[in-house]
Amino acid sequence: MEKLNKDNAYLESIETLLYAVEAKDSYTRGHSDRVSEYSVLIGKYLSLSEEELNILRIGGIFHDIGKIGISDQILKKKGKLTDEEYLEIKNHPNIGKNILSNSTIFKDIIPIVLHHHERFDGTGYPSNLKGEEIPYLARITSIADSFDAMTSNRPYRTVLSLEQARSEIEKNSGTQFDPKIVKVFLEVLDYHYDEIQEIQKKY
Ligand SMILES: [Fe+2]
Repeated sequence: MEKLNKDNAYLESIETLLYAVEAKDSYTRGHSDRVSEYSVLIGKYLSLSEEELNILRIGGIFHDIGKIGISDQILKKKGKLTDEEYLEIKNHPNIGKNILSNSTIFKDIIPIVLHHHERFDGTGYPSNLKGEEIPYLARITSIADSFDAMTSNRPYRTVLSLEQARSEIEKNSGTQFDPKIVKVFLEVLDYHYDEIQEIQKKY
């Protein structure tokens, strides 16, 4: 019974945070749902455990929750960001970590929230982590996040075709992304594109 109550509290907390994300920006909600599903899809092809897949699922949903703390004027700006504005945007992983740190039930997804903008070559943010220093699940979310950013409509960029997005990801293998995960992702794109399309249609 106690376990059931805990599970309910967990699900209710997730629902509550989801409403907060959606109220802030409906685009972020659709994007987050897709990132969550792409991440789980990649995770399945990497033979991750059910527990890890679940962390990927919830981590994907909340990877950008820190954007709640960034002003709309910057988030929805159509032109190029100033250096100052870009610095503010780059703060969203830390803001997200701070929000989720208030509850122990989210501790497993914090590495994804905090490190999804690290780059494999160590030039990402916020911690300049390099290669395998970057939490494994965050390296997966990073590819899913970039793929969705390229293939969905955003105010400041046009949509890339699947072929363009594919070659962008491939081009950045080893610099931005973990080459081993890129290899698996390209296979998923080449042989299981129907599943990707299902996810794109759903949200
Ligand atoms: Fe992000």
